[in-house]
Amino acid sequence: MKRVETILELRAARAQMTSKVGLVPTMGDLHEGHLSLMEIANQNSDHVIVSIFVNPSQFGPKEDLDSYPRDLARDSELLEGAGVDLLWLPSAEIMYPEGFQSWIDVEEITQVLEGAKRPGHFRGVATVVAKLFNATQADVAVFGQKDAQQVAVIKQMVADLNMPIEILVGPTIREKDGLAKSSRNAYLTEDERAAANVLNRALTLAELAFEDGERSGDSLRKIMRERLNSEKLAQLEYVSCAHPQSFIELKEIKDRALLSLAVFVGKTRLIDNLFLG
Ligand code: PAJ
Repeated sequence: MKRVETILELRAARAQMTSKVGLVPTMGDLHEGHLSLMEIANQNSDHVIVSIFVNPSQFGPKEDLDSYPRDLARDSELLEGAGVDLLWLPSAEIMYPEGFQSWIDVEEITQVLEGAKRPGHFRGVATVVAKLFNATQADVAVFGQKDAQQVAVIKQMVADLNMPIEILVGPTIREKDGLAKSSRNAYLTEDERAAANVLNRALTLAELAFEDGERSGDSLRKIMRERLNSEKLAQLEYVSCAHPQSFIELKEIKDRALLSLAVFVGKTRLIDNLFLG
């Protein structure tokens, strides 16, 4: 696996790739969720590029940019075994040089849920992802369903701005007890870790009700809220039963819906989601 940092180095390595190129953007601290996306990239392209960049512009002022886990030695080892051809590690100075002033705002679907709770987050995500797409000129990029709204924002951007790239989505990879794998799980104490599977429990409880015929958005949101409130270490931020494309809350489910939630377990903010229908 080749490792590059600057845009010039990246372009030179990219120029050697003559057939289909797949990209998996990450912020590092890799786990099986990330690795599953690399597998999908491998299956759908001839060369795989992985980027690791903890993107400052998508973190709020009170968020965990400084403490976000970074372990490049371990990441490199994992990537060597994952069939990755090129690892791109840009610095913040490369991505946001002095005088940087061009941002991408995907307007409507960023107004709710994660976008409402994390103002400016998706502006940072869309902008950095557009830069990653432009710099790598990848043909395919793979993202995780774990961040469902992020996927929707990126798909919207790609469609609106005619970006010549195909977006693939990999399923959420979970721990044995159902907790979605996440770099932020490392922040949890032992007690909090045990409590953290309440996110998945709440989602699957609502899913069971849906399978039993429940179609009211209010009822499904109530099931999730009550299950989450029963866990002392968990503090609910939002529960949602929304249209899977617009993310608008549903009164009644016609065919499909996306259940999603954000919860603080101790000081750690966790998100999860599940498709119905
Ligand atoms: P990061 O949180 O490192 O995630 C990188 C990719 O891995 C994202 O597409 C995310 O949805 C996916 N992912 C995370 N946990 C997963 C899991 N348990 N199962 C499957 N996929 C999972 O998301 C970002 O970085 C950043 O916002 C980024 C897109 C890199 C832009 O900075």
